Amino acid sequence: MDPNETRRYHIKTFGCQMNAYESGRVAALLEKHNFTPAESAESADIILLNTCSVRQKAADKIYSELGRLKKLKLTNPRLLIGVGGCLAQHESDKLLKQFSCIDLIYGTQALARLPALVRAATQGKRVLDVEPDAARTMYARLPRSVIVRGQTGAFVSIMQGCNNYCTYCIVPYVRGPEWSRTPEDVLNEARQLIDAGVREITLLGQNVNSYGKTLSPPIAFNALLHRLNKLAGLERLRFITSHPRDLSDGLIDCFAKLDKLCEHIHLPLQSGSDRILLAMNRSYTGGQYIRLIEKLRAARPDISITSDIIVGFPGETERDFESTREAIARIRFDDLFIFHYTDRAGTRACSLPDKIAYSTRVQRLKELNTLQRTISRQRNELLVGTSQAVLFETPSSRSGACLAGRTRSNKVVNCPAQHSMLGRTARVLIHKAGIHSLSGTLLHEQENL
Ligand code: SAH
Ligand code: SF4
Ligand code: F3S
Repeated sequence: MDPNETRRYHIKTFGCQMNAYESGRVAALLEKHNFTPAESAESADIILLNTCSVRQKAADKIYSELGRLKKLKLTNPRLLIGVGGCLAQHESDKLLKQFSCIDLIYGTQALARLPALVRAATQGKRVLDVEPDAARTMYARLPRSVIVRGQTGAFVSIMQGCNNYCTYCIVPYVRGPEWSRTPEDVLNEARQLIDAGVREITLLGQNVNSYGKTLSPPIAFNALLHRLNKLAGLERLRFITSHPRDLSDGLIDCFAKLDKLCEHIHLPLQSGSDRILLAMNRSYTGGQYIRLIEKLRAARPDISITSDIIVGFPGETERDFESTREAIARIRFDDLFIFHYTDRAGTRACSLPDKIAYSTRVQRLKELNTLQRTISRQRNELLVGTSQAVLFETPSSRSGACLAGRTRSNKVVNCPAQHSMLGRTARVLIHKAGIHSLSGTLLHEQENL
């Protein structure tokens, strides 16, 4: 590859926030190596798919996207196609065998090696790198994410991998063992993002509560939050995801004490049945989970709580399902992501007996969705008539004269406002509540709420 030649890249991202974050940093790396963003996949010289394999549906989407790219490559034989991320890590052999159009496969820990891998692929070799990042320097070797003008929020990964081995989950296999970035490294990246105009930072990890355990000296996640809370210019701080097992009192206390930490927590419950929680290797009971919710609400009465639920885990009886339904009705989450269980090859749940029929899984999913839609609406209606600090992020999809922003509790608000309000925080009087969003009118602008 001629180092002076400018080439156009296009990255398509699937999966969770971790992938979105890593795509941002890969984009910055490519731009450092003379690539520019292409306007579309069709006009790109290189297309990278950043993939997810957490559920079968996610994997299916990527296989059908590759089917489309295969055709695109027929019209542009110079096009390079790279597949990275979790599915690439897990199913590289199958992908290479099934799609001759793939030039490059790079695993979840190969990001910093991409320039060399792309160079090799440009020379006509088929390249495969799913090796680990033994020195754990991957993030430190990537430039900070590209920040576009007016962007208000950014992600910062604080750790990688997972040691929890929930029996249904592929993530520990595709992301490797858990390790943490140093607080200095995290604070530096946060400072760079704030200097580039970012107002809200969301810390990412598969299980942020165990942040810092692998560092020497170790540091607790709540200590990291205390340090980030002091950063000048930062307005809002969030994190995802927490595991209920090690949600410490120190962390709960952060919600009462830290002014920048937003009053929202995503705390996956997965099931309301103790029998199923045990089979999932979640290491808490429904009762312990409810006590955590009580503590969180005592520390911060206006906290919004969201969660993940899996229905149709192998062996889930009507009674187990009923326990989940009861837990949802009792806890009254602000929002829920409900999935029906799918087998992931290599996980322990995959070899369990008593798989639940697809039709039952779908029926259970529907039932819980109906229940949650009512609860979500009712929870949102509690905000009607209140004034909320809203950070405006984008023009609203609803109407040209509206902007969309989020409350500190992470609820989307649509509000008539000038474009000049983008990236700023204002108080909004909430008039109306839907299932997934609120609407209101501007009270007055207020910086640094
Ligand atoms: N690390 C996060 C979530 C990872 S995956 C955590 O522990 O909370 C996001 C969600 O996908 C999980 O919380 C779970 O609800 C769902 N999920 C994971 N594996 C699944 C599977 N095999 N079938 C269905 N849902 C799954
Ligand atoms: Fe998967 Fe469990 Fe780890 Fe979350 S905590 S990534 S669900 S193994
Ligand atoms: Fe998917 Fe990997 Fe995230 S499997 S959910 S992209 S960690």
